[in-house]
Amino acid sequence: MVQLHDQTLRDAHQSVLATRLRTEDMLPVCSKMDEVGFHSLEVWGGATFDACIRYLNEDPWERLSTLKKHIPNTPLQMLERAMNIVAYRNFPDDIVKKFIYHAHKNGCDNFRVFDALNDLRNMKVPIETALKVRGHVQGSLCYTISPVHTVERYVEDFKKLERMGCHSLCIKDMAGMISPARAYDIIKGCKDAGISIPIDLHSHNTSGMTGLSYMRACDAGVDILDTSISSLNGATGQPPTESVVAALRDTEFDTGYDLDLLMDIREYFNVVWRKYGHLHREAAMRIDPSVTTHQIPGGMLSNLVSQLEQQGAADKYEQVLKEVPRVRKDFGYPPLVTPSSQIVGVQAVMNVKFGRYKRITNDTKEYFRGMYGRPPGEITPEMYETILGPDWQDQVIEDRPSSLLKPEYDERRDELDSMGLVGKPEDVLTYAIYPDIGLKFLKGEVKPEFTSDQLPLKKPEPAQEVVKRPAYPFQGRVRVNGRVHAVDMRSEDRVIVDGKEYNISLLFPREEPAEKAPVDKPAPAATEILSPMLGTILNVTVSPGQKVRGGETVAILEAMKMENDIAAPRDGTVQEVRVRKGEDVEEGAVIATMV
Ligand code: CO
Repeated sequence: MVQLHDQTLRDAHQSVLATRLRTEDMLPVCSKMDEVGFHSLEVWGGATFDACIRYLNEDPWERLSTLKKHIPNTPLQMLERAMNIVAYRNFPDDIVKKFIYHAHKNGCDNFRVFDALNDLRNMKVPIETALKVRGHVQGSLCYTISPVHTVERYVEDFKKLERMGCHSLCIKDMAGMISPARAYDIIKGCKDAGISIPIDLHSHNTSGMTGLSYMRACDAGVDILDTSISSLNGATGQPPTESVVAALRDTEFDTGYDLDLLMDIREYFNVVWRKYGHLHREAAMRIDPSVTTHQIPGGMLSNLVSQLEQQGAADKYEQVLKEVPRVRKDFGYPPLVTPSSQIVGVQAVMNVKFGRYKRITNDTKEYFRGMYGRPPGEITPEMYETILGPDWQDQVIEDRPSSLLKPEYDERRDELDSMGLVGKPEDVLTYAIYPDIGLKFLKGEVKPEFTSDQLPLKKPEPAQEVVKRPAYPFQGRVRVNGRVHAVDMRSEDRVIVDGKEYNISLLFPREEPAEKAPVDKPAPAATEILSPMLGTILNVTVSPGQKVRGGETVAILEAMKMENDIAAPRDGTVQEVRVRKGEDVEEGAVIATMV
């Protein structure tokens, strides 16, 4: 008998709906999902934590405890990114331990722990903590194809995870590219090596061959398969739950689940799917066998598509897909999964946009320093030098990255306490893990992207004509693309159009003030430091009048979830700073001027 681990409430919408499924759309179907008798349901972790506070104004902790109340019988699972927890950087041990303790307390039974680089040193603390709180621990290895990722290496690492105390194991094929033969070889290899705990195969439809791989996994003795309800999976989602149940009927692998019940659940999610029509993307819906060459996971593919759209570079999609394998080789073949998928993906976008390694993100530098863990394969000294400079050897660490980090929990708790924002202990973790957006969320300043009654929505039409930015204050009607809109500018940077609030710089490009040279002495020509892409200013590190050297950081820009140093192009003096911390900037926006 094979059991299913259903991903509808976590990975499915992370893969095809940009992680935007709301709790209110999950609750009506919970009792039915609980009735199926799934091995477990994945409902939390991965990108859902971030999406809840960033886009939905939902408390992720409340989501978890509410789901637990509505699903009392089936074990609930979270996807835990080892020392990255549910974010994109390493946290100190104390934060990881507290997080797992509270996740378990709020209803998480099973912990699927993985490290993006399959560095087992990074998995030790979360595994030991989850064991301590008496959770079910699933040790997971990211599946990828490379000269260093052999069947033998997977079997060896799975043996180590079993020895570390895991209750089950998972082959995490986040890109949906495991072939039937590889699935068979790894699972059979584990069984033959005497591994006795259950083995789970997690995959995605992307390559089009996953159904075949699942069948061969069954032949090799797989115990659990990951699926999601057909209405929410598409090409980058998981193999359909209903189809896998039907396919295994009347075989020795029969799940025994009630297909009629699954069809009811399918009907329910068909309606939910239509509600989120504004998020449907063709690229996420079509089978794409080229994944076997570029190896980009489903969640990352849909992110990459929307990030390129935001950057106005949608036409670079194919070029970026080609650049990814090259970057990955240079990086020592990391599996492409959060956060390495982001680091490699954004670096590939930069390489295509600005020339290969002409612009290097801070996260790429950290990766090369070993701050994410040990890269699986060798990196050439030339690459180290390209990324870190001639003194690279002094910068690369040998230890487990989090062992260099000081405990943070108490300090974060005191900070939040002094702001009067600790409603419950879990809030400290929300803040510790997402200091900016988490704080905004806890202050009640996050507005959901759309209120529920605004759904379903169509994708907004791209603006065809640039409308002159009205002078503030302004209240009246403006014609855009032949349609008249009610516009109300209540402050310098917020504007209400047809009852909805926007950041004005996104609607109307900032107009440059006309430069007036003094009559007697011509002003020296100022150099404008421009934002290379759309993003948010995380920090401004210079002030007017300050002398800077060429290459010195003047501001830090967050784009595509990565931090980028914006550097002065030459030696000089900062004349004017045009942006503020927290401000959203367009590509080409002037960050500062210098003379
Ligand atoms: Co996945």
